[in-house]
Amino acid sequence: MKRPYTVIVSEVTVDGKLTLARGKSSKEIMQFMDEEANRYLHETRAKMDGIMVGAETVRTDNPYLTVRYVKGNNPTRIIPTKSANIPLTANILGKDAPTIIVTTRFAPREKVNTLKEFVEVVEIGKEEVDLIEMMEFLYNRGIRKFMVEGGSTLNWQLLRLGLVDEVRIIHMPFIVGGENTPTLVGGDGFGSLSEVLRLKLRAHFLRGSHLITEWEVKYEG
Ligand SMILES: NC(=O)c1ccc[n+]([C@@H]2O[C@H](COP(=O)([O-])OP(=O)(O)OC[C@H]3O[C@@H](n4cnc5c(N)ncnc54)[C@H](OP(=O)(O)O)[C@@H]3O)[C@@H](O)[C@H]2O)c1
Repeated sequence: MKRPYTVIVSEVTVDGKLTLARGKSSKEIMQFMDEEANRYLHETRAKMDGIMVGAETVRTDNPYLTVRYVKGNNPTRIIPTKSANIPLTANILGKDAPTIIVTTRFAPREKVNTLKEFVEVVEIGKEEVDLIEMMEFLYNRGIRKFMVEGGSTLNWQLLRLGLVDEVRIIHMPFIVGGENTPTLVGGDGFGSLSEVLRLKLRAHFLRGSHLITEWEVKYEG
């Protein structure tokens, strides 16, 4: 299958959380990320052809997903959503970078048509976006290096389907707690040792005061 080389990049607390509590914006924690770590994040964005977050992250965090801390081109923003529920005030609908909303054939027509007035909207799959087909679509659109910035629902789906090559973590010096607080990877979980994904540590270093770890995902063996 032809698909982009895919890297999950995430800011994660020491206890594995993505944010302060379910429904809360991760921007509250991200404000403590220092300049150097932000530069690492934005350098990574600048090397990518595409960048994706789940629609819940758009609704909760309202990110721009653009390159700001360093010089570089903005990757194309990709947002999967079955509901097509993207607020019309969302920053990803702005003109500073191209955006492709990926939805399904069953998404509410009215919402899809309204979004089409702002950005490109494509329909891939029926009840859910078929992420394997979406990857092939992105590859054929010239997106060869692709970054995913969460959240945990989307991360799970991509990892479960074997669509992720690397995971890069910017470690945040916090412990947040909370059983329902989103972690790096959500979903049902693999549940057995034979199915868990194994990673190989590729690099670890400091950027400012933040530990960064880079991991290769090993789907076999
Ligand atoms: N620390 C970090 O680096 C970081 C990064 C990102 C997010 N976050 C945090 O993570 C939380 C959000 O995570 P989350 O797990 O709740 O949500 P999420 O993964 O951001 O988004 C889930 C939504 O994405 C859409 N989606 C995902 N897969 C799909 C598929 N196959 N087909 C169709 N639509 C699909 C659906 O949107 P619809 O509901 O519209 O159908 C789904 O509800 C927020 O609190 C945010 O602050 C933290």
